[in-house]
Amino acid sequence: MSKGPFTISTPIYYVNAAPHLGTAYTTVGADTIARFKRMDGYDTLLMTGMDEHGQKVADTAEAKGMSPQEWCDSMEPAFREVWDLLDINYDEFIRTTQPRHARTVQKFWNDLYEKGWLYKGRYEGWYCVHEETYYAESDLEKNEDGVFVCPECHRPVQQSSGEENWFFKMSAFQDQLLAFYDEHPDYIQPVTRRNEVVNFVKSGLKDLSISRSTFDWGVPLPFDEGHVAYVWADALLCYFTGCGYADPAREGEFEARWPMNYHFVGKDIVRFHCVIWPAMLMAAGYPITQKVFGHGFLLTKGEKMSKSKGNGVMPKDLVRVFGVDAYRYYFMSDVQFGHDGNISMERMVQVYNADLANTWGNLVSRVFNMTGKYFDGVVPAAPASAAENPLAKIAADLYRTYNEAMNAVDFTAAAAAVQKLASAANHYIEDAAPWNLAKDPARADELAAVIYNALEACRIIALFFAPFMPNTSAETWRRLGLGDVNAVTDIEGEAAWGKLPAGNPVEKGDPLFPRLNLDDIDLNMD
Ligand code: MSP
Repeated sequence: MSKGPFTISTPIYYVNAAPHLGTAYTTVGADTIARFKRMDGYDTLLMTGMDEHGQKVADTAEAKGMSPQEWCDSMEPAFREVWDLLDINYDEFIRTTQPRHARTVQKFWNDLYEKGWLYKGRYEGWYCVHEETYYAESDLEKNEDGVFVCPECHRPVQQSSGEENWFFKMSAFQDQLLAFYDEHPDYIQPVTRRNEVVNFVKSGLKDLSISRSTFDWGVPLPFDEGHVAYVWADALLCYFTGCGYADPAREGEFEARWPMNYHFVGKDIVRFHCVIWPAMLMAAGYPITQKVFGHGFLLTKGEKMSKSKGNGVMPKDLVRVFGVDAYRYYFMSDVQFGHDGNISMERMVQVYNADLANTWGNLVSRVFNMTGKYFDGVVPAAPASAAENPLAKIAADLYRTYNEAMNAVDFTAAAAAVQKLASAANHYIEDAAPWNLAKDPARADELAAVIYNALEACRIIALFFAPFMPNTSAETWRRLGLGDVNAVTDIEGEAAWGKLPAGNPVEKGDPLFPRLNLDDIDLNMD
């Protein structure tokens, strides 16, 4: 029976360039949680998509000599290809140019218009096209030529022509937002981001311009067709579209899924998700998403990786060298999700060899080989005292530790909990020395017990690694004569010690993670 709905989103990405390591990072994180929640019995929905409106995308299309729509259409395959390559098991792919999304945006803002939360005013201020963000002059920085630049991306900003815009009375929600943060201490994670948001709101909220009339690449506002929705007033509503808001084809689903559980975002867009978005929801009378997790940036040599900086290495380049599972494992386990993290080829090779080739992969090879050698490739009978071996003890605690870590979005801790069992199983084999037991027919039962326990540990490790590494886990289960690990819906039940049936065929197979040598890799991440 389902444990109920679990709904999680990545941001929807601007389509000015194909996904890079930074955008893939958010997406792999959300997918890892979603895979775990599916295996833990939740009716899980993972949404991702493309943010297609706004001036930045329109400018990119123009530079490419295409209409904005043609440009966006041409980018959809680029996004889907990368997500398929990285085994992102998404349920909803939202494009802001989809008619269903235009319906969401129009219905939502019309509702706020009717409720009296909007007014027309003149926008006097500055705008950064790259960040798609409005700035007051006091927020800006100046470059060496004395030109005002964006405090985020340091590009020159544009001065508004003082055009008429529609404004959302966001300032009215200051106290309500502060009370909400207070009552929901877990809403913004990690806690450092929470403090930034609280201080920002305390310093005073301004009303928000939610429409543009100087250009037309956006969703027209139904009550004033000369205006299109500001790109964030459009994009944030993708979460409603993904949950089935006002969708006649998905009756009842929105009501069942809203409020959703998690928005995964980078730290640069926490403010949009934790100030503007909840204020919009409060105005419309909807509950707020349960949690927003603002992860850090991937850095190379201390600098943020970005599409525009084009550090060059794309997800497919790393997948070619390491394989998709090791790619996912490295980013999830080695870069603590809330913090900025330096990535490098040296470190990636190091983690790959230590954790995957030498620990987990090595365990599978040696145990499966010994099963071939000593038991003709068949799982031996389980020992009578199964529950009393050291591996069973570690396994007994694994669901609890792992579940806690995943709920805290601590991928590093969750992966480490699984690795602990893999290391322990390697030590167990060293200590038990099956190659000596095999020489003494009087110790045949002991040999069978050691091999059974080691195989059972492999089954359980593969089970818990599946959200991180769906392919090698599926392969391990297949080699153990078991079904599809990614189709499990009761991970806790499956983790019970002793479920590996004696008599199952065990296939040796090739190494799951062949050792890599940094000198042989023709790829540079700098
Ligand atoms: N379109 C908006 C999001 C709208 S959601 C309603 C947007 N798009 S984006 O393509 O610019 O970036 C999306 C995400 O990628 C952000 O969460 C951002 O933090 C993340 N990353 C971009 N570069 C990154 C790194 N170098 N490292 C980690 N994540 C980074 O913003």
